[in-house]
Amino acid sequence: MASAKSGKTSEEKNIAQGFSWDEFAVELAGSASGPLNLGAACTDRHVAAGRGDAVAIRWIGRHQDRRNIGYDELAAWSGRIAAVLSELGLGHGDSVAVLLDRVPELYASALGIWKAAGVYCPLSGAFGPGPLKARLDVGQARILIASEDLYLRKLVSSRAALDGLRQVLLVRAEDATGPLPEGCLDFKALVDGATPMAAHSTKAEDPAFLHFTSGTTGTPKGVVHAHGAVLGHLMTGRAVFGLTEADVFWCTADPGWVTSTAYGVIAPLVCGATLLVDEADVEPRRWYGILHDEKVTAWYTTPTAIRTMMRFGAALARSYRDNSLRVAASVGEPLNAEAVSWGAKALGVPFLDTWWQTETGAIIIANAPGQGRRPGSMGRVLPGVEAAVVRCEDGAAQMVTDADTVGELALRQGWPAMFSRYIGGDDRVGKCCRDGWYFTGDLVRRDADGFFWFVGRADDMIKCGAQQIGPFEVEGMLMDHPAVAEVGVVSKPDLLLREVPVAFASLNPGFEAGDALRAELLSFARQELGAALAPREIHFIAELPKTSTGKILRRALKARAVAELDGNELLPDLPPCPGRFDDE
Ligand code: WT7
Repeated sequence: MASAKSGKTSEEKNIAQGFSWDEFAVELAGSASGPLNLGAACTDRHVAAGRGDAVAIRWIGRHQDRRNIGYDELAAWSGRIAAVLSELGLGHGDSVAVLLDRVPELYASALGIWKAAGVYCPLSGAFGPGPLKARLDVGQARILIASEDLYLRKLVSSRAALDGLRQVLLVRAEDATGPLPEGCLDFKALVDGATPMAAHSTKAEDPAFLHFTSGTTGTPKGVVHAHGAVLGHLMTGRAVFGLTEADVFWCTADPGWVTSTAYGVIAPLVCGATLLVDEADVEPRRWYGILHDEKVTAWYTTPTAIRTMMRFGAALARSYRDNSLRVAASVGEPLNAEAVSWGAKALGVPFLDTWWQTETGAIIIANAPGQGRRPGSMGRVLPGVEAAVVRCEDGAAQMVTDADTVGELALRQGWPAMFSRYIGGDDRVGKCCRDGWYFTGDLVRRDADGFFWFVGRADDMIKCGAQQIGPFEVEGMLMDHPAVAEVGVVSKPDLLLREVPVAFASLNPGFEAGDALRAELLSFARQELGAALAPREIHFIAELPKTSTGKILRRALKARAVAELDGNELLPDLPPCPGRFDDE
């Protein structure tokens, strides 16, 4: 990139100076070049250090059933899963897709897959059959581990079309009776009968996990991360959350999102903390109860969840103020300054915004103790990472050094949890990695003190809650309906989720625009795409607005979507009360 001046403030440099990756590498693998296995770094390492009795996972089921899993139990369980996978012929670097809710088997499977040198590829139960099949195809999954329920509801019909899939292991409900679905194996029976296997030795660059993010084409992008990414999780677990063995860390993310793998599995376990898992979805009353009763010390959630809690009001929050929280943070979408201070008032700790992406693998920019904080901003860049704001002028990328100028956020390649490659589709790495920099696709500005402020996406991605939706995948699926001639999917502002996808469709001859067809299309979309991706509204339009080159003019559609907005209710307010950080 032209004029490659370091855009760092002197304070950022100071933080980075006291920092050494080699030290972390030695801690995790015994030596800087020693074998490193993500599964072993999260389990066996703690058992060897005499912490086998400590609780690795405290699981709370949907119906308040509970289970504590010690580090020794988790080490042995994941070793047995690794043995089963190897026995089934899983090769070094083969993908294992996992379609499970937040059940204990999810966590043990991730660790077992890593120990067997496979690639963990978790999928979201909020997706419908279409997006799931597309991800299994792109990820070339060899083995699938799924709950019987999700498998029967979402995948059984596509099984024949999944060429690469060799085995399906089903986690059955405890009271399940009767035969297993055809061609499937019983996960529990196989694993219970196996002998734990020692973790394979893997190199830092060996692939370990695979997540999907939305692309600018109809197919999702597979983003591959390596075993060495664990360094980024150890470092950010400590730098952002201050994690130690004394912590109870709770991450609320859906298993299909990268946040769940990085901070809902790896970071707390590699730091030797207790990972708290709640199987249920967002429910503020239940959440306050868990934060309080389980003495959660560090909490990672989303702005949508925080806004949901704000809507439930101050009185409820205050009745749980007596908690053990030390730090609470959010990711996925901008966190407004009001939400940050609401956290301080309601929970006794401010919510800290953190920024990263599927591609970055770990937190890159954060408000964190020791980093300084500025409510409403994404925070400052973490030690070990170099970030720049870039503008394209005369076809060449130029770094912006002036404060508060908007440009694209770029990161100097080579931070520890950086993705290794994209899979599926065209050469996407070529488009976002240039001259040693990775271009994030996010527009930001950096203020004079080095805090980054989110401005928007440089592309058409829709940010719905913490999730990123590619309009192209949704459009492709809607086009499969015989009534739809053309369709454009754009975002519409939403108070809770920030943006939701809405569709504008023109119809084929013989179909009549009206409520009946709208209901049918909405239900078709939910069935095929799943609740996570389906548009919330469908509007009929005689003809889609187009650019002179025939592309859908999304700006015009967005303006129409905004025009349909209804009034939003106001968020509740709280009287001031002090925060808990010493430097506040
Ligand atoms: C996109 C990445 C990182 C796990 C969840 C999402 C947006 C992320 C913030 C934030 C404003 C944010 C960006 C980014 N984003 N964090 N703190 N403030 N926007 O992972 O699906 O890869 O999405 O989420 O647009 O590029 P993802």
